[in-house]
Order: sequence, then structure tokens, then C-alpha cells
Amino acid sequence: MPHGVTVIKCGGSGAIGIAEICADVAKLRAAGERTLLVHGGADEIDRLAAQLGVQAQTTVSPDGRQSRYTSPPMLDAMMLALTGRVKPRLLAALKVAGVPAVGLTGLDAGLVTAVRKQARRAVRDGRPVMVRGDHSGRITAVDPAVLHVLLDAGFTPVISPPAGDCGGAPLNVDADRLAAAVAVALRARRLLLLTAAPGLLRDATDSGSVLARCELPDEALLAYAATGGMQRKLIAADEALRGGVGAVHIADGRVPEPVLAAVGGAGTVLVRSSRRQA
Ligand SMILES: Nc1ncnc2c1ncn2[C@@H]1O[C@H](COP(=O)(O)OP(=O)(O)O)[C@@H](O)[C@H]1O
Ligand SMILES: [Mg+2]
Repeated sequence: MPHGVTVIKCGGSGAIGIAEICADVAKLRAAGERTLLVHGGADEIDRLAAQLGVQAQTTVSPDGRQSRYTSPPMLDAMMLALTGRVKPRLLAALKVAGVPAVGLTGLDAGLVTAVRKQARRAVRDGRPVMVRGDHSGRITAVDPAVLHVLLDAGFTPVISPPAGDCGGAPLNVDADRLAAAVAVALRARRLLLLTAAPGLLRDATDSGSVLARCELPDEALLAYAATGGMQRKLIAADEALRGGVGAVHIADGRVPEPVLAAVGGAGTVLVRSSRRQA
């Protein structure tokens, strides 16, 4: 089917095959598919923060989820690492693959708007606390106009955090959820979350327990199967499917032809539960 949209989110682990992913992007494009890349880069952010002497801080929500606390210097480190290190690597790999690409963040042309998390509940040393001063946000809107201009002209957009608040100031947002929001805004037929795991594992310690397919929302799955980064992917997948994206694939970014393998059904395919379609 020509002229579908595929959004590919590349994981930040060094094991991810950037060159292989970008070579596959060239093949999808040659087949008429409109293709976008989204990236985060937690490892690179942590590395640069350490080099700059910026302390990494995390908070734990009442339901046990860890998140990065984005202080003003960490916001700088995040932007420098994503736009100065991770994105240029992807643009170089795309150039080698013969793909004309344009790097963007959510700040460009009002692409991604978020509302700042003013204060949120957290737990510290077993006691409830309010966390303030965090420069991260929840995505409220995507304006895909600039993406349409680029895609119409044959360019592959490469998108990362930050998003912008209503005044255009940067806010950190989760890259998986950013990818989901972009996929929804473009009515993408699929979102590929390529990561350093073979897919969604029923048991995170058993790499042979990959679930081939599952329907969301699956409350049980959301509640216990996944932790950390994978739990965030399930939330992003749920948002994408609710927003009308046809399928979300969580698949291995470390294998040969990672994109083609994922499209072909390797890893886990998440679809919207038919029971909740009404
Ligand atoms: N049930 C699970 N199935 C697969 N991976 C899981 C699961 N639970 C936790 N994980 C962890 O989540 C990681 C993926 O999330 P993350 O580290 O944020 O990667 P990315 O950089 O791709 O966003 C996996 O590499 C794995 O360590
Ligand atoms: Mg992650």
C-alpha cells in the first residue's frame, strides 16, 4: 500500500543498529512509504550530564514509576545531548543510506506543545512529597504542518524532545509518547518502537517469553508485565492505538533489517482491543 505513514522510534541503547535502521528507511521510502524517525537518548543525556557536572535526579511516583527530574541544567544537558550528539548520528546514518533527512525538535514550527507539570506527587524515603520546579511536560498538541511540508518534498523528518510550552519554552517529554503523538497527528498506519529487547516479554527476565500479539488496553499487562522503559512504551502504545494508529510494534532494534523484521511481524504487535472499540 503506497503512501502510508510509518513512524519509527529508535531506542537509545548503544546496541541499537542505527545503520541498519536507516538502510531500512531507504527501502520503505523506495516502496512509497512516508517514514519518520523519532529518538530520545537517555544514555547520551546521562553521559553528557556527567561531563558537565549536572546531577541526574529521579523521582518515584506513588504507583512506583520512576521518572527523570528535569532541573534547568538537566534541561540544557538534555537538549545538547539530543540535538548535538544523538540526532547528528542519525542524520549521518541516513545520509549514508541515501535518505535526505531534516532534524527537528518539538520547538520547530510549533510541532509539539506540552503543558508543564507544575507539581506532582512523589514518594521519598517512604513519605509522600510534592515535587516542584520540574521542566517536563505532558503533550497536549501536535501541529504536523511542518511534517507535511517536509514529507511532501521528499524529506525524512528526524524528531526528538523537547516540546514547547504555550510560550515556546522547552519542556522535556518522553520520546515514546512523543512518537505516539506524532503518529496520531499523521494518522500513521503503524508505529514501530525499536528497542534493545526482542519485544514485549511476558517475563522480563526470560528473553524467550516474547508475546507475539496483544490487545490494549490490557489492564493486567499494563499493571505487572513491564517495568521502567517498557512500561512507558505500553502507555505510549495505548495512546497511539486510542488515537487511531493501526498497529504498534515493539521490536528488536539490534537485529539485521530491524524495520523490515518488525513490519513483518517480529517482536510484539499491539492492537486495540475489539471489546473496547465502541
Ligand atoms: N516485560 C518486558 N519486556 C521487555 N523489556 C522489558 C520488560 N520489562 C522491562 N523491560 C526493559 O525495558 C527496556 C526498554 O526500555 P528502555 O530502556 O526505555 O529502552 P529505549 O531506549 O528503547 O526507550 C528493555 O531493554 C528491558 O530492559
Ligand atoms: Mg525509553
